[in-house]
Formats: sequence, C-alpha cells, structure tokens
Amino acid sequence: MPEYDDPYARSAQYLDLMIAGWWDHHRVPLAEALADLPSGAGPVVDAGAGGGRGTRLIADVLPKARILAVEPSLPLRTVLLSRAADDPALRDRVTVDGDDLLSARLPDRVGGMVMANLIGHFSPHERDRLWEDLSPRLAPGAFILLNLAAPLEPERVERTLMGETTVGGRTYAGWAAAEPSGPERVDWHMTYEIREGDRTIASDDVHYDWWTLTGEALAAEAAPHGLRVLPHGPAEAGLYKLLRRG
Ligand SMILES: C[S@@+](CC[C@H](N)C(=O)[O-])C[C@H]1O[C@@H](n2cnc3c(N)ncnc32)[C@H](O)[C@@H]1O
Repeated sequence: MPEYDDPYARSAQYLDLMIAGWWDHHRVPLAEALADLPSGAGPVVDAGAGGGRGTRLIADVLPKARILAVEPSLPLRTVLLSRAADDPALRDRVTVDGDDLLSARLPDRVGGMVMANLIGHFSPHERDRLWEDLSPRLAPGAFILLNLAAPLEPERVERTLMGETTVGGRTYAGWAAAEPSGPERVDWHMTYEIREGDRTIASDDVHYDWWTLTGEALAAEAAPHGLRVLPHGPAEAGLYKLLRRG
C-alpha cells in the first residue's frame, strides 16, 4: 500500500485550535442531525476525525453509541487518541483507526457516518468509490452527515482570518485564501502564526488541493448508489444527510 502523504503534517498543531470555532458555530444543527441516527444499529464512524471534536460531539449526543474514529494523519490522530483516552465519556466507546477512509476496514453495518470538513479531499472518482462502498453498509435509518464548504465551485477566496486563539502567553492565528486550480478544484493557501506579544515565534505556509462540489452535483453522483441527499439546518452550514433510498 502506498505511504499516506499527509497534507496536515505541518499544520496539525494548528488545525484542532482553528477548527474549534466551526464546531461551536454549527453545534446545534450538527447535534440535531446526530440525534436522528438510529440507536443500537452499529458503530457511528467519524471519518477524517481530525483531533476528535466531532467524535466528542457524537459521544455527547448519542451516549450509548460506539464510535469508530478514522484518522490517517499521525499528528492529528495523536490529538484524537489523547482526547479519547483522557475523557471517561469517550475512553470505553471510541476506537481510533489510522487508515485512509478509502482503504479502511469498516464494519459491514454502520449506524451512521460523519464526514466533517472532509469531502474536498476526495476526487470525483474517489467519491464514486466511497458512495459505492458506504451505501450498503448503512443500517436502516442511518445516514452520512457531511458539509460542503465554500467555495462550491472553483473561485478565488480572498485571504480571511479563520481563527485566533490564545493559549498561555501565545496567540495562534490562521488565515485562508483560495485560487481556482482546475475544473472542480481549488488550491487553498493557509498561513499560520504563533505570536507572543510583538514577536512572531513561528509562521507556516501550507497548500491543500481541494475538490469543490455543489449540493446538486452531490445529489446527482450519490443517486446511482441508492443514496438520496437531504439538506439539513441553515444553508450557511452547508450540511447534508445522505440516506439510502427506500
Ligand atoms: C479539515 S480536517 C477536518 C477534521 C475533522 N473532521 C473536523 O472537522 O474537525 C480534514 C481531515 O480529513 C482527514 N483526511 C484527509 N484525507 C483523508 C482520507 N483519505 N481518509 C480519511 N481522512 C482523511 C485529514 O487527515 C483531516 O483530519
């Protein structure tokens, strides 16, 4: 198997801090969606779990669910595993797996799947493989919950502050900008900084390839796999449920 080329190798130390705001901002619609998952139908998979903020929300909303958190990035998985191990509400229920989702050995039946801030990592061909593989695993009433992040089509995004947070004497900040890089693709350029007073302690520039996708295109590509796509919550959250037809 080819070695996993981790796009978060340099940015992992910032990612869990920067993404906290997204989880806080969308907590209500995310929690409402998760509460609709069937109970006792199989583990809930947190795909591309990052540092485990979504894993923790799944555990809060579904106190009986077992959770399989799949995270191929070693530094992010380290945050995830420590978060799960340290929290008595997670430790007995969360299993951490280090595979890429495309090669992970998933249970035959899953009680749901969360793909938060993830789908842009997969090409159209890879998504086709995913829907083909995941659709038959969904237990009755289970669904995939994902978000489509702007831009939904290739376009320029001006540099924007993603987040800024202070821990101890240091402030961590991240900015994001994007340029179209092909049909259905953008190149995200992230800049991260650690500051203490007037001094910049560290600065990191990172690029990610990201596949864009609209809700209509998602519905069209999921349909041949027996999945229907339902928007969930306020439009600005970009949340969708993928459910088996029938
Ligand atoms: C922007 S982060 C989001 C992390 C987490 N879901 C959250 O919202 O806090 C994207 C995550 O997807 C993971 N990822 C990227 N490619 C993946 C793949 N092929 N299979 C599984 N996870 C992947 C990354 O390692 C990273 O943790």
